[in-house]
Amino acid sequence: MNPAAAFLISLGQCLSTMSLYASGHPARERVIDASFARLLEVLNDIQLAEFSILQGGVVYQGRVLEELRTWDWTTRLAGAGIERIEIDADVTREGWDVALDAMFQQLNGKSPESNDVRQQLTASAVRFGSLRVMGGNGEVRPGNAPVITGEADADAEEAASSLALSLSDEIATVNWIHEEVLTGGNIPMAEVEAIIGSLAVAMRANEKLLLPLVMMKEFDEYTTTHACNVSVLSMGLADALGCSRAETRAFGVAGLLHDIGKVKVPKEILNKPGRLTDDEREVMASHPAEGARILLQREKGMQMAAVVAFEHHICIDGKGYPRMHFERGCHLASRLVHVCDIYDALSTNRPYRKPWTTEQVLNYIEERAGTEVDPEISRTFATMVRSSTIGHVAMPPREDVSSPEVHTGAVAGAGAPPAVPPLAI
Ligand SMILES: [Fe+2]
Ligand SMILES: [Fe+2]
Repeated sequence: MNPAAAFLISLGQCLSTMSLYASGHPARERVIDASFARLLEVLNDIQLAEFSILQGGVVYQGRVLEELRTWDWTTRLAGAGIERIEIDADVTREGWDVALDAMFQQLNGKSPESNDVRQQLTASAVRFGSLRVMGGNGEVRPGNAPVITGEADADAEEAASSLALSLSDEIATVNWIHEEVLTGGNIPMAEVEAIIGSLAVAMRANEKLLLPLVMMKEFDEYTTTHACNVSVLSMGLADALGCSRAETRAFGVAGLLHDIGKVKVPKEILNKPGRLTDDEREVMASHPAEGARILLQREKGMQMAAVVAFEHHICIDGKGYPRMHFERGCHLASRLVHVCDIYDALSTNRPYRKPWTTEQVLNYIEERAGTEVDPEISRTFATMVRSSTIGHVAMPPREDVSSPEVHTGAVAGAGAPPAVPPLAI
């Protein structure tokens, strides 16, 4: 078994044993000794062990621990706000004891924030807490302030304020995912899933569907904001079309990754303020095929996302790109993402034109029903947008987005306020 997984299992055994035996009892000391020995194995050749604990598994040093997919303690630890554990290589047995005791207290509803233990932990080699509040250097810092601002109408403002949600973790994670893929890494699926779960929660702020759409501040932020927005819109639309929960989530993933092939397009072309030359347009038009290739080569089980990446610029009359050798209908998910893609692209400020209003974009889509876009999908989309609240989410400060540590917090991001009922997906 992976030493990190073995260590976490021994951590769970410690916490179970601590509820049976008081401090100093030999049985308790034995399991703590055993877990410390496992910990030293983990720290044998690294300076810092970082664990992110999600509802669906554990991410260790950026990779999912397959052995812990069904580990009971993920739910208990995450439920108690222990979503991230960071341990320095110089941890001592005493320090580990103190940290275990603090975790045990937190699991039992006593926040270490209220006692001296918290201060000890902040300075110690073991840190834990909510992913949302863990800083990159391991220090505990205040949670992010809400950054959703509602539209002018009172409904939107009410929805926004009741959400008290920041998407800065999710946005930072999307940015990080693009960087990972750009440098040849695999698609970090745990983070992708966490973002989808988090966005889905954000969308059900109240009775009315909330579409938390991220507003770009700088032109080079488009790839990140666009991925988040197309994902949100795709999930809302899939839900409105009566798709199953699993399909809706899968469409959200496909929406998030539909333009992943743009990592292969040079930034000068991607962010060019003027019109593209023919050669540049050709490079840009390669992103659907590149995206499909990345998704098929680097990750298992991404066939549908790959199909969507390939087909999302193909119109229902066969026009668009890439040109298919044999005309055939596109997948439902591709037709759905196509509409969401148009909506976000036209609603966003671009270097060469101002953003369109919601009604202008919906009219544009409706005019193209039956030629470019699927009539039923576009009709449902227009109804969904008109009957939803659009929550404008501000981009977080740039240092948050680019910080390499923030992505781990973002896993957390998955954790929106628990009181918010999730979308039925
Ligand atoms: Fe695209
Ligand atoms: Fe797109």
